[in-house]
Amino acid sequence: IEHHFADKALQGVKLMITAGPTREAIDPVRYISNHSSGKMGYAIAEQAAKMGAQVTLISGPVSLTCPQGVDRINATSATEMHEAVMGRIGQQDIFIGCAAVADYRPEIVADAKIKKNNDQMVVTMVKNPDILADVAALSDAPFTVGFAAETHDVEKYARGKLEKKKLNMIAANDVSDPSIGFNSDQNALTLYWTNGSLLLPATSKSNLASQLLMQVNQAYRKQ
Ligand code: CTP
Ligand code: CA
Repeated sequence: IEHHFADKALQGVKLMITAGPTREAIDPVRYISNHSSGKMGYAIAEQAAKMGAQVTLISGPVSLTCPQGVDRINATSATEMHEAVMGRIGQQDIFIGCAAVADYRPEIVADAKIKKNNDQMVVTMVKNPDILADVAALSDAPFTVGFAAETHDVEKYARGKLEKKKLNMIAANDVSDPSIGFNSDQNALTLYWTNGSLLLPATSKSNLASQLLMQVNQAYRKQ
């Protein structure tokens, strides 16, 4: 009975998650992007659905199949992902920003392939909208969880983002450790919220996803 209860802890909860990278076009054949396999976000989406949540997965370009029972919406650029999220966020209870969103996009997208006529090439970039911050800033914001991929001073930067973006929780991972994160099937996370933190040691991404969701659910019920 207890097992069944834990499995369906998110029954009826509407949960939206972003996953994967975004691609910012330079011309019709080139783009700028981030490292992201999408595995962590997809594992969270899959696990949330198993726990009974109604899951909307806003996905950047990845080579993963959509988890069973999950409603996937594809987006390529950060601008597209922002539109896909903001257009559907009204009905959501929990939002998890797991995507590796490109911070900048080329100011001008060439409409024809750029030829290598010069020894140097300069691409002027402009800032993309911050999807996570915009969700958290809504007057009726859902319970909002961010991710922070850091190479150093993990806690300092993660807590900085928690506060600046007015998040309920942030999950930080140290991407300087090659054995975890990115294309790996394993990951470790430290969760931070205003009054506490919790280390989730290295394990499979699906195991980590279920631990993360149990913490998110607990904090979401408490708020
Ligand atoms: N994020 C987002 N939209 C952006 C940039 C980031 O939704 N345009 C989200 C990510 O999905 C993640 C969180 O913000 O949940 C933190 O992303 P991260 O790149 O670690 O932080 P930034 O705020 O972009 O700051 P910086 O890259 O300078 O560390
Ligand atoms: Ca960033």
